Amino acid sequence: MADEVIAVSSDWAKRAYVDDAKYKAMYEASTTDPAKFWEEHGKRIDWIKPYSPSAVRDVDYNGDVRIRWFHDGVLNVSANCIDRHLARRADQTAIIWEGDDPAKSKKITYRELHGEVCRMANALKELGVKKGDRVTIYLPMIPEAAYAMLACTRIGAIHSVVFGGFSPDSLANRLVDCDSNVVITADEGLRAGKHVPLKANCDEALKKAPGVKKVLVVKHTGGKVAWEAGRDVWWHEIAAKVPADCKPEPMGAEDPLFILYTSGSTGKPKGVLHTTGGYIVFASMTHQYVFDYHDGDVYWCTADVGWVTGHSYILYGPLANGATTLMFEGVPNYPDSSRFWQVIDKHQVNIFYTAPTAIRALMREGEAPVKKTSRASLRLLGSVGEPINPEAWLWYHRVVGDSRCPIVDTWWQTETGGILITPLPGATALKPGSATKPFFGVQPVMVDAEGKELQGACTGNLCLVNSWPGQMRTVYGDHQRFIDTYFKTYPGKYFTGDGARRDEDGYYWITGRVDDVINVSGHRIGTAEVESALVGNTKVAEAAVVGFPHDIKGQGIYAYVTLKAGEHPSEELRKELVAWVRKEIGPIATPDVIQWAPGLPKTRSGKIMRRILRKIAENDFSNLGDTSTLADPMVVDDLVKNRGK
Ligand code: WTA
Repeated sequence: MADEVIAVSSDWAKRAYVDDAKYKAMYEASTTDPAKFWEEHGKRIDWIKPYSPSAVRDVDYNGDVRIRWFHDGVLNVSANCIDRHLARRADQTAIIWEGDDPAKSKKITYRELHGEVCRMANALKELGVKKGDRVTIYLPMIPEAAYAMLACTRIGAIHSVVFGGFSPDSLANRLVDCDSNVVITADEGLRAGKHVPLKANCDEALKKAPGVKKVLVVKHTGGKVAWEAGRDVWWHEIAAKVPADCKPEPMGAEDPLFILYTSGSTGKPKGVLHTTGGYIVFASMTHQYVFDYHDGDVYWCTADVGWVTGHSYILYGPLANGATTLMFEGVPNYPDSSRFWQVIDKHQVNIFYTAPTAIRALMREGEAPVKKTSRASLRLLGSVGEPINPEAWLWYHRVVGDSRCPIVDTWWQTETGGILITPLPGATALKPGSATKPFFGVQPVMVDAEGKELQGACTGNLCLVNSWPGQMRTVYGDHQRFIDTYFKTYPGKYFTGDGARRDEDGYYWITGRVDDVINVSGHRIGTAEVESALVGNTKVAEAAVVGFPHDIKGQGIYAYVTLKAGEHPSEELRKELVAWVRKEIGPIATPDVIQWAPGLPKTRSGKIMRRILRKIAENDFSNLGDTSTLADPMVVDDLVKNRGK
């Protein structure tokens, strides 16, 4: 099954920007002389002051690690996403918003977007926000989330979007880490008809983030909220007072654009920092070529703006290209499991980009909910966030795309800013389950555990040499952590944290994280974060968390918990701990399994042997390896005997 190859159809090869020959030529050009390649492609963006040829690329992966692109250029991202389209596209729809409630949707033209973004930018200025300040955005999937992000870029503020599903504690940590003093939130969010108390969560978070001076609140559901006069400001009230025009701030190419927190293998989430020029060049270029976006296409990415996919491929890439981008507030199975396909028919979507976990969940419901819709408008399908198993790929292709639409399985990361390994629909023969080939300028290399570069067909750890303009520049406030996390394991190379296989045709098959990060439904969760939440409970002495294969989510969360003396395992306590983790981090970190562990397998120096814990969670006892070096080998027998209990 995995060996099936789906050739590029002749009409795709003809209509697409890039066919096979052009891919090869452009790829070759991008890797032999990257500076020249990107000097040319950087021009797709409007620059207030153009970069000079000598400033296109300045990269050193050694020592202190320096990554700069187009560094003497000056530009503004919101002007590139809005103003430059006004002459030709003022009345074209920029954003189609589809509500959680199928009766609610609206269209926002580029002219309207300009007005709203300018107003929000002026409102932020009125609240004291200046260039370089950090503004935290904690909003549901409503157009105001797009206005807020673009408004920050308009005035040179750095946004940090926090996913609306995160808990007050997670929000507080992120507020404190980047020293934000303004938050933009809403009264409530809506998901599958249920109300999410965003303003109340925010109020709770602010008790632990006293630096926040102003909260801009969008009225969305009209739900009741507590109000702190002087601090809280209604968006609709301030919007009525401020002017609808705001001059875009000229920004240096390397000025920070946004921070986005993501989980790593150790410690607390890190603030991935992206800068202005390189990011927008790369987001817009990948959006155009990977999705083969042409004028007039309706494009829909189902991600949340709280994740990088929402940043690059709901907002920045599409809008920089003058696209019509659909923003969806709801979930795939509400009111029923035809919802995605109904939305596609309703708005005549041509390009659809979603996550394998959604495909697998919908696949379980059978073909009927799909087949009762038309989907005739669809031309291209995309996948992102985790490996897509060939079975789900083939179902997506045959049932959703009626065997007519190519699938672009796009591999990338929060850190990479944009898509790095992907098919191009007019150029790349597809293999179900493979992210296929590198995008222009991207040079993957495979290394073994010792860092030796592997050639030809192989299995190993995925690294990248060379840089691409969308690469993250640093961890906000902690450059040493940036160096240590990505450039120390294999000196001179960026280490992705992913394992992969490269086949005899040079196709990449990403197998998943090789570090202590779990990918649950396409969301990254650090095992250390869940462990630290668990041990924060007064009844817990110790905890170790690993991932295990899960049919729908890709990976699930498996926690081994040792209780404090005097505490006793019970179903009730298990529920209490699950609820505790949800409260501490958010529902995405809900443990699927909690196993009571009288002891954890440790080396004599006290290091937890995660490899053994992973094997037990995977229900694979055949190869537990050498346990004789453990301080107490007996604990393994107990864990095996009581697996899942
Ligand atoms: C995984 C999401 C296989 C991978 C854009 C990566 C994938 C992590 C794919 C980044 C894919 C993402 N195939 N695995 N097409 N796309 N991943 O930062 O493990 O939320 O390292 O960025 O997701 O997740 P992040």
